[in-house]
Amino acid sequence: MKKILDLISQEVMDAFAACGYDAAYGRTGISNRPDLCEYQCNGAMAAKKVYGKAPILIAQEVAAALAGSPVFEEVCAVNPGFINMKISGAYLSEYLLRMQADEKLSVETAQQKKKIMIDYGGPNVAKPLHVGHLRSAIIGESVKRIGRFVGHEVIGDVHLGDWGLQMGLIITEVKKRNPELVYFDESFEGEYPQEAPFTISELEEIYPTASKKSKEDASYKEEALEATAKLQDGVRGYRALWQHILNVSVADLKRNYSNLNVEFDLWKKESDAQPYIPEMTEYMKKEGYAYEDQGALIVDVKEETDTKEVPPCIILKSDGAALYTTTDLATIIERMKLIHPDTIIYVVDKRQEMHFTQVFRCARKTGLVDEDTQLKFLGFGTMNGKDGKPFKTRDGGVMRLETLIADITEQMYKKITENHDVDPQEARQTARLVGLSAIKYGDLSNQASKDYIFDTEKFTSFEGNTGPYILYTIVRIKSILNKYRAGGNEVNGAGLLNPVTGSEKDLMLQLVKFNSVIEQAFEETAPHKICSFIYDLANAFNRFYHETRILAEEDEKQKSSWIALLDLTRRVLETSIDLLGFSAPERM
Ligand code: ARG
Repeated sequence: MKKILDLISQEVMDAFAACGYDAAYGRTGISNRPDLCEYQCNGAMAAKKVYGKAPILIAQEVAAALAGSPVFEEVCAVNPGFINMKISGAYLSEYLLRMQADEKLSVETAQQKKKIMIDYGGPNVAKPLHVGHLRSAIIGESVKRIGRFVGHEVIGDVHLGDWGLQMGLIITEVKKRNPELVYFDESFEGEYPQEAPFTISELEEIYPTASKKSKEDASYKEEALEATAKLQDGVRGYRALWQHILNVSVADLKRNYSNLNVEFDLWKKESDAQPYIPEMTEYMKKEGYAYEDQGALIVDVKEETDTKEVPPCIILKSDGAALYTTTDLATIIERMKLIHPDTIIYVVDKRQEMHFTQVFRCARKTGLVDEDTQLKFLGFGTMNGKDGKPFKTRDGGVMRLETLIADITEQMYKKITENHDVDPQEARQTARLVGLSAIKYGDLSNQASKDYIFDTEKFTSFEGNTGPYILYTIVRIKSILNKYRAGGNEVNGAGLLNPVTGSEKDLMLQLVKFNSVIEQAFEETAPHKICSFIYDLANAFNRFYHETRILAEEDEKQKSSWIALLDLTRRVLETSIDLLGFSAPERM
């Protein structure tokens, strides 16, 4: 469906043209003075110079031309030349009726279907998921859902960190503890055991221990480097052990992500890109992109217009080792070969921006991607605690994601069971949904690139700009609809009447924004736009609800029209939160 602003603009543009002015001056926007009007056109002011006429005269002519328009119920020209408009209630209801009949609620499917890859999550094997990984998962999941909703093919890849020194460290520590394990017996030629020699909790303890030891003990680090090299060279026992680490970790990660309502299409990993490295470096050397500098192989990526120094991309270190950059470049080759996406969006901590600037430039310069392939960095800020420092546990440790989710869910459970009798099992389930909305909305309502403060009290509140408030609004609507149904009525049995009160019209004016909000959220990879839209929508609904006795209304036609409006509001809200990655319970 066309956006309401486009329809309105068209009407005003036609009026400008009919009065002998360039139609372009008729572009109309939402009023920034809602006390005066709903929509506003400032074109007469801009037309002044061209036509040598006082803007107010132009505005008056155009307003007169719009007098009989079915789109508006009021058009006035006001000094110095604004055209202020109020939309006709009938036009608005008619638009909403079409929205109601559209399964995508007025959002048009993209004309050119693109293949978009989203690199998000980015957890590292054998390290517990902590809050640092939360934002990537939450934002990436939402961006993925929005892309799909507007009709693109979107592929989410978790891009697991499973390569490099961290692996060598774990293997070294396992070897110290259990040197007798068959994985370390170089003469062993049989099948390795199916069962991993550690559990996930052991693994999560092994890595930090090893990491600490390697910082204190140079020879330990040496061993870990050696183990890393052996693994990368393909030593059988090391590979088998690494496979165990991977399996145990992935099972745990999947469980964690599923608790977050986050799902990946691909579980690719850094190691998958390694086979592409030798050919890539050969190619870069042969084509003259890469050259040796103090033993390392580098590609220059600085540009004349840089205001900040962009260091060259190091493809191989002087000892021949590959780096994070190398892996990301090789991953691009792999993705182009296997998937050939039109766009790759990386949802990663904004502190890695320079890394991605280098990688993107290098990929372009060396032709790893097509000219029209878009590489996009969606960098997010830090999630801070109330002290303004990165979010920690009460005793200052790194907060595990599981702990955070469990804490919030527990708080929600208390709130839900505090004042009323509820089935404990249902309350648990509800607490999970509401808790998730608190975490996700709290995160997504901030522009991704900004740091934000994770304020548990604020985020879990049922009032204000929070996930629980949105859910509460949805549940309130559902409860009215259920009562209406219980009276033997059918929701959406009748059409939509023209709005009768100001708050009803305001609610309608919010609803018609839906398609343009979704389009913008997609274009700008900005889920926070959906958050602020549903917050406004929930507020508009609640004002209408408090002013209107819906179920007590005696005029059945009026009642069913309001019910239809409520159901449409519910659908828009539920579709929106689904795009944000959470859902509403039936009751709360
Ligand atoms: N594993 C990385 C980290 O924890 C994030 C990976 C981001 N994606 C990428 N293609 N580099 O920092």
